[in-house]
Amino acid sequence: MNRSLQDWIKRHERDVLPTEAERTKVDNVASKLINACERAIATSGRTASVVLGGSYAHDTWLPGEGDVDAYIVFPKEAGRSSLETVGLKVARLALKGYGIIVRYAEHPYLESYINGVRVNVVPCLSTQAGQWMSAADRSPYHTRYMRERLDDSKRFHIRLLKRFLKTQGLYGAEIKVRGFSGYVCEVLILKYGTLPDLLKGASSWNVGTSISVEPEVLGEQKKEFQILDPVDTSRNLARAISTRKLAEFVLLSGVVLSGTRCDPFERKLLRPSRLRRQFMENVVLISFRYSERAEDILWGELAKSAAGLARHLGVDGYRVLNHGIEADAGRCYIGFLLDRVEKSKFAVREGPYYYMRDGHSGFLESSRNLSWWFEEDGRIRRLEASQLGTVKEAIKYYMADPVARAGFARGLAEEAKRSWEMADGRRVAESDDMVARSVIRRLFGYARELDTC
Ligand code: CTP
Ligand code: MG
Repeated sequence: MNRSLQDWIKRHERDVLPTEAERTKVDNVASKLINACERAIATSGRTASVVLGGSYAHDTWLPGEGDVDAYIVFPKEAGRSSLETVGLKVARLALKGYGIIVRYAEHPYLESYINGVRVNVVPCLSTQAGQWMSAADRSPYHTRYMRERLDDSKRFHIRLLKRFLKTQGLYGAEIKVRGFSGYVCEVLILKYGTLPDLLKGASSWNVGTSISVEPEVLGEQKKEFQILDPVDTSRNLARAISTRKLAEFVLLSGVVLSGTRCDPFERKLLRPSRLRRQFMENVVLISFRYSERAEDILWGELAKSAAGLARHLGVDGYRVLNHGIEADAGRCYIGFLLDRVEKSKFAVREGPYYYMRDGHSGFLESSRNLSWWFEEDGRIRRLEASQLGTVKEAIKYYMADPVARAGFARGLAEEAKRSWEMADGRRVAESDDMVARSVIRRLFGYARELDTC
C-alpha cells in the first residue's frame, strides 16, 4: 500500500532526533574538546580562540552520527601557510593521547574519537566576511548565521532531509559521493521551510536554477545550477554536487511526493538492476593495488583514471556504454560495459579545431589518415584503421604506459602498471569478490521498477 510522505515523516518523528541521553553524551565530548583545545592554545603560547561549528553547533546532527567540529581560529596575521604548521601543531596538542587521523580538505585538519564520538579539529583564520584566506574561515560565519535563523521545526526537517539523503546514497560532499553536504541541507531547508516543500520545489529545478536565501547579488546570469552560500553569495555550493546526484534527487522528489510503498527514510528507492548472465561477456573489469592516501585524493585520481581509459577506448573504436569505479582495502576497481568486446575496425582520432590552422596539415599528413572530416563542434576527425585488437588487448596496451596512453592519474599509474589484473564479467559474477560484483552491478544501473522493497 502506498503511504503519503506525511505518513512516513510521522513514523520517524522521534527517531531522527537524538535522545536526551545521547545529547548529554555528545555535549560532554564537546566540552572536553573545547577544554583540550583551550589548554593546547595556552601551552603553545599562541593567540587563538575555539569555536564549535558544523551540525553539532547547529543542532542538526543525526542520532548515532553526531560528530563534533571544533575550529581553532588564529588571527589572520598568522597567514594562510601557518594553518599547516602552527595550526596543525596546536590541533595535535589538543588531541594528544587520542588516536589521530590527518584528513585533507582544502588544508589538513585532524580527526579523532573521544568516548566513541568522532571529533574534528580544524585550524582556520579570523578573517572578515568576503576576505577569506582559507575555506574553513567561513565556517564560524555559517554557525552564527544558522544559529540565528534555525528554529525547532527547521532543525527537524533538516534532520529528515539528511536521513532521506543518506538512505538514498545522496548525502556527503566528499569526492567519492559528490552529493549534498550537511551545510547544503541546512541552506535548502532555510530556503524552502520543510522537507515536503523542498521536494515540491525541486520538481521545477533546472540547469539555470539559482537558489538563494539572501537577496541575490545580481551578477552575470550563469547557465549553471546554483545553491548560493548565504554568507558568501559568490560561492556556489552546488558545484560540489554531481549532476547525476542532483538528477537522482529531483527524480526521487517526484516519486516520494506521490506516495511510496517503501519507507523513503529506510529503503533505497532506486534498486540496482539484477545481473543478467547473457550480458556478462560485455563487461570487462580491471583492478590494481593502491597505497594509503587521503580518501578525496584517491577517489579523484580513480575517477580521472577511469574516465581516461573510457575516453581512449571510445577514440579507439570501442563503444563504452558505462563505466564504474570502486576502491576498497588497498585495491581499486574499474569496470566497463561495452557494446562489443571484439576487435574494432576503425579508430577516430580527434584533431585541432578549424581555427587552429597551424595544426591542420600535420594532423592530415599522418600516414594513418584514411580519410577525414569536420564535425559540428568545429573539430577535425581522422579515420584510421584500428591498430588494436579486442578490448582486452587494447587495455593491455594502455596499461603498459597508463599516463601517456590512457590519461591515468600520475598518483595511481606506477602501482597500477605493476599490479593490474583483468577479469571478464562472467568470471567476476561467479566469484565471491563482493566489491568487484558491486562494480559490475552498478554498470547496469537501476531496475525498471521504482519503489519496490
Ligand atoms: N562546510 C562547507 N561546505 C561544504 C561542507 C562543509 O562550508 N560543502 C562547512 C560548513 O561550515 C559546515 C562545516 O563545514 O557547517 C562542517 O561540515 P561537515 O562536518 O561536513 O558537515 P556537518 O554540517 O557537520 O554535517 P554532519 O551531520 O554530516 O556532520
Ligand atoms: Mg560534522
